[in-house]
Amino acid sequence: MHQTEVLISSEKLQTRIQELAEEVRKDYEGKSLMLVGILKGSIHFLSDFARALGREEDELEFIQVSSYGAATKSSGVVQIRKDIDQSLEGRHVLLVEDIVDTGLTLSHLLELLSVRRPESLEIVTLLSKPEARKTQVPVKYVGFDIPNQFVIGYGLDAAEKYRNLADIRVVTNP
Ligand code: IMP
Repeated sequence: MHQTEVLISSEKLQTRIQELAEEVRKDYEGKSLMLVGILKGSIHFLSDFARALGREEDELEFIQVSSYGAATKSSGVVQIRKDIDQSLEGRHVLLVEDIVDTGLTLSHLLELLSVRRPESLEIVTLLSKPEARKTQVPVKYVGFDIPNQFVIGYGLDAAEKYRNLADIRVVTNP
């Protein structure tokens, strides 16, 4: 068992998600969105965020990526394990991510998806660790900037556990 400490309470998460949704609703007025959740970590955020947006025309898609392996992880090369079902051409695509750490996964994913000619391609992330960044990723919407510590809960795992906690916690005995 890990010892944990609450970093962001469930109430704070939900309040911030409403604010993000308000911002996104304004920016995409009159434009339907394809919300693309990056599995698995984004599931709870995507679910709450999509319902906070509450727009009839928005669609939900999923993508799952994995690094090629520990040795190449630092290169940020990712493999698509489960692809988006629809074409992105001409669509307003918003990638929904749990956390941006080094930024390598997202920057590679942006390269892979931008060649599919979406009308727009932006990122919303619930959490960001600015101090951990190894490459600059253009993240348009950020829920919370957090310190460079390992966090779990609300979709984020430690060896596949803890994803179903309602809050975000820091592991105090890693
Ligand atoms: P990046 O390519 O370093 O930005 O890695 C992003 C991915 O690493 C996220 O989508 C998470 O799956 C995972 N990750 C990064 N930091 C944490 C953390 O603190 N807790 C759990 N997963 C994390």
